[in-house]
Amino acid sequence: MNPIGLFDSGLGGISIWQAIHAMLPRESTLYLADSKHAPYGDKTKSEIISLAEKNTEYLLAENCKLIVVACNTATTQAISHLREKYGVPFIGIEPAIKPAALNTKTKKVGVLATKGTLASSLFHSTTSLHTAGVAIFEQEGTGLVERIESGEMEGPDLEAHLKELVQPMVDQGIDQLVLGCTHYPFLIPCLQRILPQTVKIVDCSPAVAKQTAAILLQKGLENTGEEQPQHEFYTNGDLELLSQFLPHRRPNFHLAYVDF
Ligand code: DGL
Repeated sequence: MNPIGLFDSGLGGISIWQAIHAMLPRESTLYLADSKHAPYGDKTKSEIISLAEKNTEYLLAENCKLIVVACNTATTQAISHLREKYGVPFIGIEPAIKPAALNTKTKKVGVLATKGTLASSLFHSTTSLHTAGVAIFEQEGTGLVERIESGEMEGPDLEAHLKELVQPMVDQGIDQLVLGCTHYPFLIPCLQRILPQTVKIVDCSPAVAKQTAAILLQKGLENTGEEQPQHEFYTNGDLELLSQFLPHRRPNFHLAYVDF
């Protein structure tokens, strides 16, 4: 059975994988963690496009039937290029500005994302399309991807760093905080400790899983076979760290170091 392919600049996209696996348990998956090249957020558009092409070509060589670009930065910088160049459906990830703008009572929304995402024209066009009458406060998550990629997701030092990043938005009166990077859901327990209860954390993973299910159905690509789905996770970084992101491993999960 052909798998759904996913890639990210490392381990963050596992937050998207979890949502897709929960919604589509009959599908096989192949996840590429390009940790060797993390973070993408500080790279130029052409560097991100060539990394996205490399990952896509690897997944296509493994017969993936649909590719989830499980990275906001790669989506905003490269997805239109990927859609033009390759003949499979692509699902992208963008900060969930629209639901946040619909739900805010204070009319103030915070966005925590990478430099690359915040600077992209796709982010700006989506934001201006959906946020009439709502003030958007942007904050670059400087250093957060690097911390998560080294396995740091808790602790007083990280908490102080996060507080420094989000407090100015809280002081402005936001009541929605959009996580604009697929690494950041791993910080939700830490964020919940420092944010006032009035601030809702907005994560796009469930919406991405829903969209993936809809496209599989629309294109007739759903798995209908009886075999047990298999889940491959390849990293070009630290295999031990990858296994820490998958604490509930089953026998059909296969983890490997691959130099892609
Ligand atoms: N998970 C990536 C994203 O969603 C992280 C980007 C990076 O590597 O800077 O944007």
